[in-house]
Amino acid sequence: MQAATSRPTFDVKPNQHPMPEAERAKAFESLGFGTLFSDHMAVIRWNVDKGWHSAEITARAPFQIDPASSVLHYAQEIFEGMKAYRTADGRAVLFRPEENARRFAASAERMAMPEIPEEIFLEAVERLVRIDSKWIPDGDGSLYLRPFMFASEVFLGVRPSRDYIFCVIASPVGPYFKGGAKAVSIWVSEHYSRAAPGGTGAAKCGGNYASSLVAQAEAAARGCDQVVFLDAAEHRWVEELGGMNVFFVMEDGSLVTPPLSGTILPGITRASLIALARDQGLTVHERPYSFEDWKADAQSGRLKEAFACGTAAVVAGIGAVKFTGGEFRIGGGETGPVTNKLREDLVSVQRGRSNDPHGWVKAIDGV
Ligand code: PLP
Ligand code: COI
Repeated sequence: MQAATSRPTFDVKPNQHPMPEAERAKAFESLGFGTLFSDHMAVIRWNVDKGWHSAEITARAPFQIDPASSVLHYAQEIFEGMKAYRTADGRAVLFRPEENARRFAASAERMAMPEIPEEIFLEAVERLVRIDSKWIPDGDGSLYLRPFMFASEVFLGVRPSRDYIFCVIASPVGPYFKGGAKAVSIWVSEHYSRAAPGGTGAAKCGGNYASSLVAQAEAAARGCDQVVFLDAAEHRWVEELGGMNVFFVMEDGSLVTPPLSGTILPGITRASLIALARDQGLTVHERPYSFEDWKADAQSGRLKEAFACGTAAVVAGIGAVKFTGGEFRIGGGETGPVTNKLREDLVSVQRGRSNDPHGWVKAIDGV
């Protein structure tokens, strides 16, 4: 399904009506997540005959798509989430962007979509950050980047589309959770599953999130910040949250996190924290952990801390867990010291405050 690909040349058309400086400064005073957008977007089109073509950086604007565009019917859509940070010494940097490019390619393969070559993906992201570099907040904020691709062929038959649009948009963001750095509360979804073996759990496709929303709404109705899913086959093993991976910190100082069995997203934050924990001398077990054990370990004190992690959420301590028929607390409901140290280690690398032994940070030239 892959047409021959030559690297398209970007046509750069700067926005003639960018947001005035004062308006942006005002908006930056109260940054939430994903509600404010930068002046530009990157767009590249793909067609079965032409491959990747018509690359441009242009003013952010609505797409005009036909009502029969196949994405609107069969949800052939994938996305990524990554951030650009402003370092204290004034650089604009990305964190492990090649990992997002690779995961995007893996998601594309699973969804029978064309793979965008890593260098084209990265060029689109870097060009957008360069032209919208004023949109990277200082301090604790960051510029959240959302590369995505959808099927745009006007066709109602059920087969892979022959046309796609790849796009990157950018959104200056503050904390993902309204409570900021406070520990979050979690609802355990024992009824709904997120992904089954052989399904799309390891791909970052919109459909996974669509099917998670009813469980997330259930969580919100119970006053919880996020939902955690159990495995689809036995409803027994902890998998991941609606938009984050999960870790447990045990009494002996070791960490446990569910393995990448194909039903959860291989988080880049997850992989980075495993490496940073091992750098600290901690033992990390990637192994199944049951909800029964979670409850029992929280009660007995064998479980000291739990946290969620992802690009948007960074690292968030889990203080309370609710489920049908009960609830329990972890670590007195506060974010624990192991979680805080891992968060600090990660954020220090991402923001260029500590040296970067793994070579994860990529500076964007000319910003
Ligand atoms: N799991 C899900 C379902 C997610 O949506 C995300 C967020 O991207 C993650 C895990 C964490 O992945 P990453 O650390 O690469 O952002
Ligand atoms: C991310 O962390 O980038 C995510 O995609 C999670 C959520 C915002 C969907």
